[in-house]
Amino acid sequence: MATTASISSNVLIISSLLFFIVSFLQVSGAQELKGCGFQAIYAFGDSLTDIGNNKGFAERPPYGNTTGKQTGRASDGLLVIDYIAQSAGLPLLNPSEDQSATFQSGANFALSASTVMTNEKKPQDLFKGFVAAGDSLELETERFESHVKSICKDPTGPDCKKKMESSLFFLWMGINDYNYAIADGGKEASPFIKTIEQAKQLKLVPSVVEAIIKGLKTLISYGATQVLVLGLPPYGCSPYFLTPQSKNSSAVYDEHQCLKDYNDYLMYHNIYLQEALGSLQKENPNANIVYGDTYKAMRTILAEHTKYGIEMVSQACCGIGGKYNFTPDYKQLCGQDGVPSCSDPSKHIFFDQLHFSQNMNEKMAGLLIQDILPKLKCKA
Ligand SMILES: *[C@@H]1O[C@H](CO)[C@@H](O)[C@H](O)[C@H]1NC(C)=O
Ligand SMILES: *[C@@H]1O[C@H](CO)[C@@H](O)[C@H](O)[C@H]1NC(C)=O
Repeated sequence: MATTASISSNVLIISSLLFFIVSFLQVSGAQELKGCGFQAIYAFGDSLTDIGNNKGFAERPPYGNTTGKQTGRASDGLLVIDYIAQSAGLPLLNPSEDQSATFQSGANFALSASTVMTNEKKPQDLFKGFVAAGDSLELETERFESHVKSICKDPTGPDCKKKMESSLFFLWMGINDYNYAIADGGKEASPFIKTIEQAKQLKLVPSVVEAIIKGLKTLISYGATQVLVLGLPPYGCSPYFLTPQSKNSSAVYDEHQCLKDYNDYLMYHNIYLQEALGSLQKENPNANIVYGDTYKAMRTILAEHTKYGIEMVSQACCGIGGKYNFTPDYKQLCGQDGVPSCSDPSKHIFFDQLHFSQNMNEKMAGLLIQDILPKLKCKA
């Protein structure tokens, strides 16, 4: 006769085995978001999320070399949004401008080089000369509205609302508003003329956050209830900002050799954004508005980068010149003739001066998913 003791010890062994299997699945980035049952994902953003709408610099190799396909993604491979879609058990999204797509599982409206603010909102003296940056979040939400009208007979009717309610809305945007202000951002990627102090005086953060909230209100008016808004990562660690400041003898660096005042400024944006999202949540009790902390995720990776297979934290894989492999000159950017690429992008946080490697995107998405999963209130 089997004793109670041996039965319960078997149960214990099985349950610890299960525990190990479950924890293994979690660290290996399994489909944790699948339990949320998202039918579709609608994504909004800039080159960190654009999967082929504004093709341009990222259409040429070595962009896409790791996946073996040049799609317009600004990385050697996949982006954070791709890992979110995979985790949700959905196929990779289609770019909204893809005429041949059926958009069964949503659409990606992100536009490379886009700012949150519309042109008339941008302080013109800062943006003069930046021709490419005509796109804004407003253009993306307008395209979303036309998209809804094309897929629903009655865009405000119950059937369409039901589809929107079962979808995840993803928004990651804002870095370009600051890049162009602080960095001039001229077509020639010219060296920076504005200091962080000047950027602070312009009080840009409230305008950027206000434009994000306006965009979110449009999405909510179409029935969005599950909304994920990502904050900005510590870009004071990027070759784009580090390079021009390397000539500044009074520049202050933090423990990860990142520019302290740039990161503090982006953190200020993140705090301001979270407060605004809190108010939006109060006004919309039926929606679940979740903040995704990319700042924390990237700092976690910086602190223990070797654990994530990363050796180079601030040097671009693809690019040329200086300590950070970046020269602020259009003809010397990644993708241009004669500009070299490293042999293993996965060892770098940055693939080029601003955009992350596929490995970084995967690891950052993994940390984000762990962070947002309880807040999304999905089934386990
Ligand atoms: C990657 O891109 C470079 C251009 O920089 C190209 O010469 C090379 O053949 C590509 N490698 C692979 C494996 O696709
Ligand atoms: C140099 O760094 C200091 C300290 O961060 C900063 O106050 C100053 O504005 C920087 N100078 C320029 C030209 O960016």
